[in-house]
Amino acid sequence: MIVAVDGPAAAGKGTIARRLADRFGYAYLDTGALYRAVALSLLRAGADPADPEAAARTARNLHLPDTADPGIRTPEVGLAASVVAAIPRVRATLLDLQRNFARRPPDGRPGAVLDGRDIGTVICPGADRKIFVTATPEVRARRRHLELLGRGEHSIYSSVLADLRERDARDANRVDAPLRRSRDAMVLDTSFITADEAFRRACAFVESAQ
Ligand code: CDP
Repeated sequence: MIVAVDGPAAAGKGTIARRLADRFGYAYLDTGALYRAVALSLLRAGADPADPEAAARTARNLHLPDTADPGIRTPEVGLAASVVAAIPRVRATLLDLQRNFARRPPDGRPGAVLDGRDIGTVICPGADRKIFVTATPEVRARRRHLELLGRGEHSIYSSVLADLRERDARDANRVDAPLRRSRDAMVLDTSFITADEAFRRACAFVESAQ
């Protein structure tokens, strides 16, 4: 069983995907963390995230544990991740890792939930269930802003909104694997519902495939 959860930044897909994996005993892969980890490694090395050579080399040397670094969660790394993610060789390098995870989930789990931008369209077009999680830019920016404040970080709502719009535009307009809804995905707009309600709807949708 493969569940694909896609959508724009801070729409709530990570929370939904993680809870689905917990509920059904599936493995979970946050694919955004892969691009973020590549971006962080480049920034730490003083390299330009837009440099295709350096980015592709860094992606080839990426190991899953690199994604556990809390340093990947900053807004700067998020923006750099969307630059890195627009480089076709980076995406090609990370493709096998993601497909292998979906086809053969670790620890013999009976399924996998992957969240990202292109899971239902490119990584796993044959996924059993596809969910496109979305919300208005203002709601998403507010959530990310509160999340940053909750972590004790400095945050300004208007900057969060501007960053998010910039990232959305880059993700949706890139040539390779742009962010878009797969035609067979259920749309889950979380703008005006609680996290629990969003999870309940996602759960019912996945259950109906079992
Ligand atoms: O958590 P948030 O929604 O802010 O972003 P993320 O899922 O961690 O993804 C960070 C960036 O990685 C995105 O803005 C995309 O540019 C890129 N990404 C991608 O291109 N394809 C994916 N499957 C996942 C993320």
